[in-house]
Amino acid sequence: MVEVRAAGHDSLSFGTGARHDHELTHRDDTEIASILDFLEILPDQTLAGLRVLELACGSGRVTVPMAAAGHRVLATDLSIDVLSLLAERLTERQAIQSGIAGRVEIQQADMVSFDIKESFKAVCLPMATITLLNPEQRRATIRCVAAHLAIGGALIASIDRVLPAAAATSTIRLRPDAYLTEEIDHAGRRRRTILRCRDKEYVSERYLVTPEDLVNDLKEASLFLAAQRSTPDPVLPHHISVILGAVNRR
Ligand SMILES: C[S@@+](CC[C@H](N)C(=O)[O-])C[C@H]1O[C@@H](n2cnc3c(N)ncnc32)[C@H](O)[C@@H]1O
Repeated sequence: MVEVRAAGHDSLSFGTGARHDHELTHRDDTEIASILDFLEILPDQTLAGLRVLELACGSGRVTVPMAAAGHRVLATDLSIDVLSLLAERLTERQAIQSGIAGRVEIQQADMVSFDIKESFKAVCLPMATITLLNPEQRRATIRCVAAHLAIGGALIASIDRVLPAAAATSTIRLRPDAYLTEEIDHAGRRRRTILRCRDKEYVSERYLVTPEDLVNDLKEASLFLAAQRSTPDPVLPHHISVILGAVNRR
């Protein structure tokens, strides 16, 4: 199982960290329009009755809009704390009356190693979450995804492309009480973000992954690039959000 807590630091996936993360991100609509577009243009319409598997869903930032658009979603994450936040959201009257709650099932799963006895029309892994994994774990995740995709189904995943011009260290203010510091080791291909929120620090360790790295890993698992969209990150300079759709052609 992958450790989501950086050594000696609180994690944004557990306890108060999970709640802070939810507060900071649940209204963020990054990637959502692209994900919904990709789901609409799945090449094989015979897949329409199948569910979407979402990995590392967090508190449901993307889950809820997918379900609102009519997709049935199996929403998974390693952290029970973030899944509880999603479960709470689904008990709200609006989620029940709109049918969103009825289209979402929640399950704990490790994205690196999971075995769900179902084929999905799509697997969704947004917010550059795949960059939390080292290259070996990333490839294991992609193999697992490929094993759970119906033929013609698609993996929709994103990475954060960090351009060489990005500063080695930078800090931005997200809210009056929340600052984000980023440290980039271009040569070592690592990136560390430190969120300081109400006197607490949450550290996230990531890998620098290029679209080419990801496309190569996808090809090894017989997943072939069908769509790609790049948009500059609205907050971090020299960061490009790249979202890929890759189809299972086995
Ligand atoms: C940056 S958040 C993304 C949440 C959500 N997908 C979004 O777009 O807002 C990363 C999530 O990955 C989860 N996570 C980290 N490692 C994981 C693993 N090995 N398996 C499943 N989930 C994991 C964390 O618990 C957290 O909810």
